[in-house]
Amino acid sequence: MRITPALAGLLALPIALAQLNKLAEAAGKLYLGSATDNSELSNSSYLAIISDTDEFGEITPGNGQKWQYTEPSQGTFSYTSGDQIVDLAEANGQLVRCHTLVWHSQLPSWVSSGSWTTAQLTSIIQTHIANEVSHYKGQCYSWDVVNEALNEDGTYRTSVFYTVLGTDYIPIAFEAAAAADPAAKLYYNDYNIEYSGAKHTAAVGIIDLIQTAGAKIDGVGLQAHFIVGSSPGQADLTNVLKAYVAAGVSEVAYTELDIRFTTLPYTAAGLQQQASDYAAVTKACLAVNECVGITIWDFTDKYSWIPSTFAGQGGACLYDENFSKKPAWTTVSSILAAAATSTATGGTITTKASTTTIIATAATTTTLATSTRTSITTAATPTSTGGAHYAQCGGIGWAGPTTCLSPYTCTKQNDYYSQCL
Ligand SMILES: *[C@@H]1O[C@H](CO)[C@@H](O)[C@H](O)[C@H]1NC(C)=O
Ligand SMILES: *[C@@H]1O[C@H](CO)[C@@H](O)[C@H](O)[C@H]1NC(C)=O
Repeated sequence: MRITPALAGLLALPIALAQLNKLAEAAGKLYLGSATDNSELSNSSYLAIISDTDEFGEITPGNGQKWQYTEPSQGTFSYTSGDQIVDLAEANGQLVRCHTLVWHSQLPSWVSSGSWTTAQLTSIIQTHIANEVSHYKGQCYSWDVVNEALNEDGTYRTSVFYTVLGTDYIPIAFEAAAAADPAAKLYYNDYNIEYSGAKHTAAVGIIDLIQTAGAKIDGVGLQAHFIVGSSPGQADLTNVLKAYVAAGVSEVAYTELDIRFTTLPYTAAGLQQQASDYAAVTKACLAVNECVGITIWDFTDKYSWIPSTFAGQGGACLYDENFSKKPAWTTVSSILAAAATSTATGGTITTKASTTTIIATAATTTTLATSTRTSITTAATPTSTGGAHYAQCGGIGWAGPTTCLSPYTCTKQNDYYSQCL
């Protein structure tokens, strides 16, 4: 394996500079990203962090592309809010996961309260999608075409779409999106489909539903709104990602990741548990080649949606309310760094049996041989005598080796994390 100058430079970076997206790309992923929203961009410190492509390679507009904003009354289209985010990402050189076209929520009442025939509602969906997807044509890496169509028990959620059209509204929407921007990756996006169970099984069924109808679906978006201490385990997460791929999509992604505390304030032990929960999600994505990336549902607790939706809960993000990195940030960063190091040096890695689509990577990593896109099964800790470069070597709750292989030194980053540097 070759270590390119760009990669050698990356590997030489101290952890403070070895940022999330750059590490995710070096580990073979397309991006690590964050959602954002219009009002937050007025905070200049926030704007600087979200615009840093070493940290975030992808942005998802939190609200501005939803139906209530883009077609508030029939035939009147407005893209002001969505454009602000998409233009920012474009100026920064970041990908955009465009979000979302057909959803029962944040749907203007002219749609939800209308009395429609099947032909009328079909036309309303097609017109909405044709207009919005055409407006953003070429700017969206992907579209969340249909969002949250399922109930927790795996039955279809009641909405004006389902009531009038049954499940037909789903392939109708995917067909319209494909017609308007053939290059955009088209996703079904939902929550509580990240682990095995009735809702996951039903989401697999949606892939089949769309394909049987002759429409295109490229990906499944797993929102991943989890709770500290009761997040799914890594093995279940990995198996579920693989199940979607086996069912016929070419990619999967964690699209709205956050892991919240149900009681506040959070404790030191809680932050450590949160870091472990983030670790499981990160490792699951690394273990599946078709997992193209992870988007966190805003990077800072300051602008998280959680407190306003779940009273008394919060603390769900990688950065705290003062934009300081939490232990979970350090853990995610170190896992990505270990994967990047393994990918580059041929450390403890297992080559994936069936090589699939090679995704274009960002400029800094295009020089990596395509054969280095591998599944990481273990972190690069070659011997029990000490940690490899970037390995964890200490911190509250750490039970592994506390020494490092030469020439690295175990360096304390914070109470929760020491690293071989
Ligand atoms: C941005 O948010 C940070 C963190 O809460 C705060 O300290 C800072 O004053 C804010 N800046 C502006 C310009 O509002
Ligand atoms: C953020 O800063 C404020 C003001 O210094 C402080 O009161 C608060 O505890 C800080 N929050 C966290 C999570 O450290």
